[in-house]
Amino acid sequence: MAIQLVPLPLPGSADVSKLADFGREVRGIELGSLMSEEFKEIEESLYKYSALLFRNVNLSPEQQYAFTKAFDPEADAYGHGNNKIESAKTSILQPYLKTIPRVPQVQLIGHGTVRDHEGITEAHLKHASHRAFHKTHLSGAEEAAGDTRFFRWHMDAALYGRALPPPRVTTLYGIRVPQGEGQVVKYGDATIEGASEDELRVPLGTTAFVSGKTMFDIQPRELKSLAVRTSAKYAPHPFAWMATARAVSTGLGLVSEGRERADKDLPPWKEEDIQVLPVCWKNPVTGELHLQLHPCGVKELHIEPVPDASRRDEALYPDGAHLTDLEEVRRICYKWQRPGIAPNLVYPHDWREGDLMLFHNRGVMHSVVGKFTEDQIRVFHQCNFATSDFPIGPNDDDIRRWA
Ligand SMILES: [Fe+2]
Repeated sequence: MAIQLVPLPLPGSADVSKLADFGREVRGIELGSLMSEEFKEIEESLYKYSALLFRNVNLSPEQQYAFTKAFDPEADAYGHGNNKIESAKTSILQPYLKTIPRVPQVQLIGHGTVRDHEGITEAHLKHASHRAFHKTHLSGAEEAAGDTRFFRWHMDAALYGRALPPPRVTTLYGIRVPQGEGQVVKYGDATIEGASEDELRVPLGTTAFVSGKTMFDIQPRELKSLAVRTSAKYAPHPFAWMATARAVSTGLGLVSEGRERADKDLPPWKEEDIQVLPVCWKNPVTGELHLQLHPCGVKELHIEPVPDASRRDEALYPDGAHLTDLEEVRRICYKWQRPGIAPNLVYPHDWREGDLMLFHNRGVMHSVVGKFTEDQIRVFHQCNFATSDFPIGPNDDDIRRWA
């Protein structure tokens, strides 16, 4: 039987013309026992729609592992390496991920105290709060009134190590989902050039998604040209590097105030393990470009010259450049990415228990959102794999068209 694809319910805030093709709910299949033709349809639909939702799922960690691995059968290590995060005390991710002992590619995430869970006797889970990461904070009164922030926009990826390319897909499975009043994301960046006083009403504890394809498509001509000519060089051990720095109020990058961890205080690293990735990643099914850049981890930009001399006058950095000034690097990244997280372009998923969201991790960006009270217990399983290949950037046709 062919799978059924149903559009996701979009919030009133959404620009339907931009989000109509974002995400589908998949019906008519049993995730734990997929036929190979069904899997092929799911795989193709994922790259087309960027995120697929499965409702009323009941999957063991082993089954989630098997389903996620099917997108890259050669991969076998978790996106950050197996059992790496809990031992990496310097990593900013360390408080948020607990490895399931039997299946180290599956992480327990959520909020509150969880006991006797899949071989874990007791875990104290913490839903990431902007207070732990942003330079400025909402006041207690604002939070009590339901205001919140995006925590950190990202794709799931180690961004360091030759053996750890960014995962193709991530599965996020909601096992326990606390119910409660929705909250309002305050962007708080109206002081930054080009930003407005934005806010977005979201369900409690939503995961917010935006499309990297839309992020690319809405760029003005000169920023598209720059994006297809640029590669991002990430910091060595970016999650240790950024751990001492603080983020801007949208969670879309860091404040440049010299707080990043110094090279000598990072875990040992090698130049050849540093990742340099194109800013635009090519979709393997549609051929479209997705602007995929981890704004907190990027350290330098390598820009190629404009290949067509007739376009020099309108181009930014027409002769190419190697940008190492963090403030300049971040200013460009914010210009590229901020329009793509505008309230009308965000899909904030309204989690129900038993939801499994499969997303194209090389085609979307996402963020944790919101704040729970101590007694709101949230239990999720997350799985992804460091892929067997690196993302492909723009090809010659893309460069001819956009550069
Ligand atoms: Fe994530």
